[in-house]
Amino acid sequence: MKTVAGPDLDALWMPFTANRQFKQAPRLLARAQGMEYFTPEGRRVLDGAAGLWCVNAGHGRGEITAAVTRQLETMDYAPNFQMGHGPGFELATALAALCPPDLNRVFFTNSGSEAVDTALKIALAYHRVRGDAARTRLIGRERAYHGVGFGGISVGGIVANRKAWAASMLPGVDHLRHTHDLSRNAFSRGLPDHGAELADDLERLVALHDASTIAAVIVEPVAGSTGVLLPPKGYLERLRAICDRHGILLIFDEVITGFGRTGSPFAAQEFGVTPDLITMAKGLTNGCVPMGAVVARQAIHDAFMQGPPGAIELFHGYTYSAHPLACAAGLATLDIYRREGLLTRARELSLRWEDAVHSLRGRPAVIDTRNCGLIAGIELEPIPGRPGARAFEVFRKCFERGLLVRTTGDIVALSPPLIIEPTHIDEIFGTLASVLQE
Ligand SMILES: Cc1ncc(COP(=O)(O)O)c(C=O)c1O
Repeated sequence: MKTVAGPDLDALWMPFTANRQFKQAPRLLARAQGMEYFTPEGRRVLDGAAGLWCVNAGHGRGEITAAVTRQLETMDYAPNFQMGHGPGFELATALAALCPPDLNRVFFTNSGSEAVDTALKIALAYHRVRGDAARTRLIGRERAYHGVGFGGISVGGIVANRKAWAASMLPGVDHLRHTHDLSRNAFSRGLPDHGAELADDLERLVALHDASTIAAVIVEPVAGSTGVLLPPKGYLERLRAICDRHGILLIFDEVITGFGRTGSPFAAQEFGVTPDLITMAKGLTNGCVPMGAVVARQAIHDAFMQGPPGAIELFHGYTYSAHPLACAAGLATLDIYRREGLLTRARELSLRWEDAVHSLRGRPAVIDTRNCGLIAGIELEPIPGRPGARAFEVFRKCFERGLLVRTTGDIVALSPPLIIEPTHIDEIFGTLASVLQE
């Protein structure tokens, strides 16, 4: 291992990071290939998190590099306001073909947060263009993460994300109860058995606010960022039925579950429940170029296509919507997913993965292990008075031993690239077992 003089760390204000602690003992990455990162000293770190749930096809994919390079040399940037370019339309068409039937109109953003805010805006504007303008209320869920825009933190349910901006939240937002219930569901294999009835919480909010005031409900099919919270069997179906009964739009935030994470292209297909809008990002470009999207049912899109000719139907967009480089990356990524069968690979590996996840049951401080597709949550008993400290210590020790995991609170989350091989699965859980044993 060589020693390398590091960069000056002062100027960068790091996101979602304990900046002072990090800068005293930095963890730097310098290079990545396949399932692996390498530190500046050349130490190998197995990627158990697909970067940040996004590098689904593995690192360093030459096809994506070539496509982005070609696009950069051909046309670096083009506006998408009142102008268009081939790759934008091609990617929208390819994406629509991956989505559940009827979800076939695509609006591009640059991140998951922007996708969420865009979907919420579309939902509100949709009711308005239909002459149902009283539907202004949005329903999120406790312990949800929908990014960091004001819309996303308003419907989100993470206290730390909300408290500093408490006075600036969107008005008229309410929250369903979360579905995480270890008293009934600890150590579930796949979706937990108990809790479908928690969807009836939406009926409570309908009774409180009246359906005529509610525009949309947004949920993550599997909540990832708050520690792998799985939908109880039947829960999403019940939520869909209640939305249908009351004319409420259902939005699935698939920023994490999209692009093969659960075993199907989208969780909507894996769980057999079709929402009205899907938000996505991350795996859309294999994490290479920032990009997000909202895919809407055609009827939602079509409701906007009215008014005088020449009128802009949805007054919304980003300078970098359908950025040519992101589109090139997206097209090359979808091509890899198709050629290598990666969007269903999680299903093929899921039993092997499940057994490995649950092999951690019985290790010290492990109070739950849970899994779905190529996702795992390992929940630890918090150290009294120091919430999150135990999982962070696991994260730190895993990194020292060459494994990247994610932690949130006292939950360790795993979501490896979908190119993972059984030997990597053994390595991930072998390292975790030895770290937990300490
Ligand atoms: C479900 C969900 N929605 C939205 C976001 C925000 O995405 P971004 O960080 O790209 O803004 C995330 C990020 O992890 C997410 O998990």
